[in-house]
Amino acid sequence: MYQTKILSTGKYLPPKTMTNDDLAKLCETNDQWIQERTGIKERRICDPEKGEFPSFMAQKAAEEAIEKAGIDKNDIDLIMCSITIGDMLFPNTASMLQDRLGITSQCACLDVNAACTGVVYGLVNANALIQTGVYKNILLVGVEMTSRFNNWADRGSSILFGDGAGALLLTRAEEGESSEIVISKLASDSSKKDHLKLPAGGAIQPVTYEILDNTAQYVSMNGPEVFKAAVKTMASHCAHLLEHSRTPMDQVDWFIPHQANLRIIEAVAKRLEFPMEKVISNVQYYANTSSASIPIALTEALDEGKIKRGDTLMLAAFGAGLTSGAILLKY
Ligand code: UT7
Repeated sequence: MYQTKILSTGKYLPPKTMTNDDLAKLCETNDQWIQERTGIKERRICDPEKGEFPSFMAQKAAEEAIEKAGIDKNDIDLIMCSITIGDMLFPNTASMLQDRLGITSQCACLDVNAACTGVVYGLVNANALIQTGVYKNILLVGVEMTSRFNNWADRGSSILFGDGAGALLLTRAEEGESSEIVISKLASDSSKKDHLKLPAGGAIQPVTYEILDNTAQYVSMNGPEVFKAAVKTMASHCAHLLEHSRTPMDQVDWFIPHQANLRIIEAVAKRLEFPMEKVISNVQYYANTSSASIPIALTEALDEGKIKRGDTLMLAAFGAGLTSGAILLKY
């Protein structure tokens, strides 16, 4: 059986910044409340007039990862995009990305939709394909243009989201290299599916004038319920991974949770008794970029020299479904 190595990473954040004060002009909220309840100071927002759409952000993040890895883009066997709202309903965003990257090998292209948990789901599946020798090189990109489903007038959800993309270039580890996905856990609790959803725009509720009048084309979220489930699932999945891999907590060099709310991150760390100094967090600057958040945070931590080859990383995420998942890996 082969092992999976994260060869390189990349990220893209749109330059346009929206501060909490900017947001307070669109709904009844304020900077102090947002910072106290979420830790968020600002978020990045796509400018569609400048051509910033999901496949564009994915392209920028992927190009950075490909350049860092120094591999031939035509050696990529599979492009996987973790996304909920792509450029179009179809073709899938992975195919749009293949075109944008100028890949001519006709490699396989697949979109994964597990909402904010998407990159964790994607990485677990990519690992299985690499381990079994089906593919050698996989480009996994988490990308979300949340500003397309965000209802700026809804203070209960709009404060949380931002746009962005993060890319992971995965490959088969060479013999003697220590990189591997040690253990993982994926789950979904569909009994809580109504706590976080985007009801319109699918087959059940195609967009009509009535839908638009009722703003059902936007995200609908029960924040406190999602908060509770997020803390519970991420903490229990991480504890499960450590126990089943017999990894002592102090052997984990860095914890990279999904960046949704600093209070969620702190509550998970507290439950696990994991030191906050070893938790990677940038939610302050980008808010919740859905499944782009973990690869963006990983890229920044690598660029800052925090994370080093051979480090043990713990990833955890949750999202609509309510999906959840965690991965323990050797970088
Ligand atoms: O990737 C998954 C994405 N989803 C999540 O991660 C959601 C997780 N949930 C959360 O992050 C939090 O639940 C929120 C940040 C969304 C809300 O924070 P909260 O501490 O759970 O607040 P709450 O909804 O319980 O509301 C507390 C109070 C209420 O006022 P009253 O009833 O106590 O008078 C709200 O009306 O705060 C009020 N409130 C606000 N006030 C100012 C709610 N949102 C705001 C706001 N600005 N943006």
